Amino acid sequence: MQVLILGSAAGGGFPQWNCNCDNCRGVRQGRAGLRPRTQSSIAVSMDGERWLLCNASPDIRAQLNAHPALWPTRGLRDSGIAEVLLVDAQIDHVSGLLSLREGCPLDVWCTASVHGDLVEGFPLFPMLSHWNGGLAWHEIPMTQDAPSCTFQVPSCPQLDITALSLHSNAPPYSPRRGAPAAGDNLGLLFRDRSTGKTLFYAPGLGQPSAAARALMAEADCVLVDGTLWHDDEMIRLGITDATGSEMGHLALAGEGGMIEELDALPASTRRILIHINNTNPILDETSAERAVLAQHAIEVAHDGMQFTL
Ligand code: MLT
Ligand code: MN
Ligand code: ZN
Repeated sequence: MQVLILGSAAGGGFPQWNCNCDNCRGVRQGRAGLRPRTQSSIAVSMDGERWLLCNASPDIRAQLNAHPALWPTRGLRDSGIAEVLLVDAQIDHVSGLLSLREGCPLDVWCTASVHGDLVEGFPLFPMLSHWNGGLAWHEIPMTQDAPSCTFQVPSCPQLDITALSLHSNAPPYSPRRGAPAAGDNLGLLFRDRSTGKTLFYAPGLGQPSAAARALMAEADCVLVDGTLWHDDEMIRLGITDATGSEMGHLALAGEGGMIEELDALPASTRRILIHINNTNPILDETSAERAVLAQHAIEVAHDGMQFTL
């Protein structure tokens, strides 16, 4: 299984257009130790030709242009992106679908909760139906009673994908904001049947359940929520009045934080953080917080990072 990190930042990207925090100012000024990052998306492939896009960020045009493996090669109109899988209906994970309209019809895998938001609050499905067949919805079945399922997608037949409903949050525009239902946020375990290797991907993880911990413990590599260092990081900066946990993101530091969760994994597990908010001090490679991550053998994803499992 090949994994390509297209965008490693949270919503807003790095720098965020209207943010003058230390990090954003520093990266604009070219300060050493800081590198720009686009918004949250990865792609997975079994053959290096057909890629499953996991989340479609508003930065998708630049992300596709940056990666020759995703360029059209087999015909006049073509793409390395064979289909799309969405972990939630957040703007930073779905608005890139608008930029893919020239490639419709496009197969999109998501839960009924996510599809509902993309029909009602942010009607990408009805809108794009006016472009050559639009988005073809493939439902990832998910209920309160059965919050997990395993399925395959045509572009990666050798890949078993287990989707698990996570404790996180629905998007701000969703009627379920603050009271998410099963299927509003997914963690994904990708298992390559030919090698047995596994990747767990969860860019929005508010509080790991026993089931989420079990999938993480099973994975050879975890690519998980690194949005914030402190739960109240954005409150301290005076940017919002919301904590990370209210937004559906478990902070890295502190008791019960993501660093502790990752410490509990088997020593052989590769640990990588993704969906990093621009306020997070770990974006500065010279920071004390980044040194703490290194002590815990935790890596920070960057745009263009790729690996094979
Ligand atoms: C989130 O995951 O909470 C988002 O990054 C927020 C956003 O896109 O504004
Ligand atoms: Mn996000
Ligand atoms: Zn900033």
